[in-house]
Amino acid sequence: MIKLYDSFWNKLSSIDFDDEKLKQLKKLTEEKLINPIQGDYSRWYNAYISLPSVNTTEISPESNAITCKTYESEWNISDLNTSLQQLIPWRKGPFDIFDCFIDSEWQSYMKWNRIEKQIPELNNKVVLDVGCGNGYYMFRMMKQTPRLVMGIDPGLLQIMQFWSVEKYIKSGGCILPLALENMPTSLNCFDVVFSMGVLYHRKSPIHHIMELASTLKSGGQLVIETLVVDGGKTTCLLPTGRYAQMRNVWFLPSISMLTIMLERNGFKNVDCIDVSTTTPIEQRTTQWMRFHSLEQFLNKDKSKTIEGYPLPKRATLVAQKK
Ligand SMILES: C[S@@+](CC[C@H](N)C(=O)[O-])C[C@H]1O[C@@H](n2cnc3c(N)ncnc32)[C@H](O)[C@@H]1O
Repeated sequence: MIKLYDSFWNKLSSIDFDDEKLKQLKKLTEEKLINPIQGDYSRWYNAYISLPSVNTTEISPESNAITCKTYESEWNISDLNTSLQQLIPWRKGPFDIFDCFIDSEWQSYMKWNRIEKQIPELNNKVVLDVGCGNGYYMFRMMKQTPRLVMGIDPGLLQIMQFWSVEKYIKSGGCILPLALENMPTSLNCFDVVFSMGVLYHRKSPIHHIMELASTLKSGGQLVIETLVVDGGKTTCLLPTGRYAQMRNVWFLPSISMLTIMLERNGFKNVDCIDVSTTTPIEQRTTQWMRFHSLEQFLNKDKSKTIEGYPLPKRATLVAQKK
C-alpha cells in the first residue's frame, strides 16, 4: 500500500515542497498505514488487491459519474462488482467503472455543478482538498489540469475506494490518510484549498479556519463549504445533541458569521458563491449505501430535521488569504 504513494512523493519534491515537511508527511502517512486502527482495513485492502486487471481505453472525468470504458473482453464484470461491493458504503460518487455503476448515497455532481463555474481557476495550480472523502471532486478537478492535487482524509475506507477507482482512472492525485490538524504546520504552499463538508464536524471551527490558512500561499484561495443557518452577524446554531441524526455536528454559523470567522483569521475578499438546501434527491439510500439517509432524518412534513432544527442548508464561500 505504501508503495502506491512513491510517485506522489516524487511529484511533491518536483514542486519545491519543503524537504523537512515532505519527510514529516511521509512519516505520518506510513505510521497510519502500517498500524491501521480501522478494523476492516485488511478486508478493504484485499478487495482492492482482488480488482481485475483491465486496460482503460477511455475516461470521462467531466461527466456526472466519473466514468471509464474498455474495449477488452477477457475479464469478468462480476469480479469487479464483488470487489467494489466489499467497499460499501460508497457515500460520494457516482462512478461508472466499465459499466459497473456505483450509485453512491450522494449525487456529488449536484454540488460540483453548482460551484464549478465560480471556483478559482485550477489550471496549473497546486491544490489541496481537505476532507476529500473518496476523491470524487479530485477526479472532477482533472478537467482543469491542475499541476498537483493532494487530498487528505482520515477515513481509510474512502482512501481504499479512491485507490480502487485510481487503478482504472489515473487522476495523478493522491489522498493522504491524515486529518488537517495532524498535518505539518505552516505549509504555505497551496494555491487553492478546498474544505467542503468538514467545518461543522470540527469542535473548534476557528482552529480549522486557521489551519486552512496556514496551508495556503499568501494570495491563495480557499473554497469552504459548510452547513449554515439563516441569520445575521450574531447567529450561530450549536445543536444540543444530534443534528439530522449526526452526532458529530458542532457549529452552524450564518453566512455573515462565517464571513467574520474568515476575516478575523487571515482571509479577505470573502464571497458567497452558492447556498442550497439539501434534499433527498441529492442524498439518499441506494444499493451502494444501504443505511438510512436524509429522508429518514427529516420530520414528517419535511420542514425540519427530525430533531426540529432548520433543514440542512449549505453555503459555499470563496476567500483569499491575506
Ligand atoms: C461530509 S464528508 C465531505 C466529503 C467531501 N468533501 C464532500 O464535500 O462531499 C466529510 C469528510 O471529511 C473528513 N474529515 C472529518 N474530519 C476531518 C479532519 N479533521 N481533517 C480532514 N478530513 C476530515 C471525513 O472523513 C469525511 O470524509
